[in-house]
Amino acid sequence: MIKNKKLLIDIIVGARPNFIKVAPIFKIYKKDKKIKKKIKFRLIHTGQHYDHDMSEIIFKQLKIPKPHVNFNIGSGSHAQQCSKIMLKYEETLIQKKSDYCIVVGDVNSTLACSITAKKLNVKVIHIEAGLRSNDMTMPEEINRIVTDSISDIFFTTSRHAVNNLMKEGVKKKNIYFVGNIMIDSLMNSVDFIKKPETFKKLKLENEKYILLTLHRPDNVDNIKKLKKLILNLPSEDKLKIVFPVHPRTKRSLKNIETHFKFINFINPLSYFEFSYFLKKCLIVITDSGGVTEEATVYSKPCITLRNNTERPETVIDGTNILVGNHYKKISNFINKAYKGKWKRSKIPEMWDGKTATRILKILYNFQ
Ligand code: UD1
Repeated sequence: MIKNKKLLIDIIVGARPNFIKVAPIFKIYKKDKKIKKKIKFRLIHTGQHYDHDMSEIIFKQLKIPKPHVNFNIGSGSHAQQCSKIMLKYEETLIQKKSDYCIVVGDVNSTLACSITAKKLNVKVIHIEAGLRSNDMTMPEEINRIVTDSISDIFFTTSRHAVNNLMKEGVKKKNIYFVGNIMIDSLMNSVDFIKKPETFKKLKLENEKYILLTLHRPDNVDNIKKLKKLILNLPSEDKLKIVFPVHPRTKRSLKNIETHFKFINFINPLSYFEFSYFLKKCLIVITDSGGVTEEATVYSKPCITLRNNTERPETVIDGTNILVGNHYKKISNFINKAYKGKWKRSKIPEMWDGKTATRILKILYNFQ
């Protein structure tokens, strides 16, 4: 009798949202002897995000195992980041080829490793496949389309994503609608979310502050635009603004001379801290996709500073409203939230905290 071969599956992470998306897989894997017998994971950190606040702290909080290797590629242009990652991952695969490569989301590490794996005939599995903003000016949209065009297995967060893939000719048998793995992390963290010191220091009161997050190049790299946005935020004492600043945004803010006294600029928050700030705010203003999903699950009013979204369910079922560059609308929306007149949200299908379980069940049956 031929003994079943143990599968070697690479899991690629590079940037902050990736860490949150893979943590639930390890949480279940660690406890499941049956799966451990069948599958060995090799966690690969590309080092795209490297600051303590952006990487290490999330690994610690979400108990993600130490990566097998860290490529430490750091910052750079898109081509620099992708090419460095590709060279390093190719070396890793040549030393020991894996059976599958799991990539998550839409960051440069996702794109670079999916191409490298595919060229070495390693099957590519994409978690969060099929999201489309239809906006090719977004680097993430290019990453999503290229990754999906060469992936073998597609795990999706929604039926919209399934439809997008099918429209592009992906065979139904390779698509698995498993739900949103980011929500697994959110639900797994409930017991760890405590009032952070920063919250106390800023003397914040529940539902009496605005949470602001910005990191998309389109919003933060253009100084004039960034300044215009900030000037359109309310500047009243009764409603504080808390702004955990992403390193990319920090660079641009340095070039804005005006002082914005009404905004509390703080360092990036850890995953648990951010969850607390989000849960207790009046409204969140953001350009992050992941935050719109979390706001929907927390039933928090959410304004997105983009004209489109690859996550339509956050608008259709959830609490999200797209404002784009129409900054003048922001104060009306804040008033609406203040008066408790925000639309009600429904939690999208299969955003139930069990996505990682479904994924591992499917992987278990792979050869
Ligand atoms: C990346 C992803 C984006 C994701 C975001 C989450 C791509 C194309 N973009 O954007 O999809 O939503 O991560 O945060 O992959 N920096 C630091 N320390 C760090 C990381 C970055 O100082 O640990 C600074 C560097 O100056 C760097 C800049 O932030 O140049 C941008 O980082 P980068 O990884 O290029 O992209 P993000 O804007 O973080």
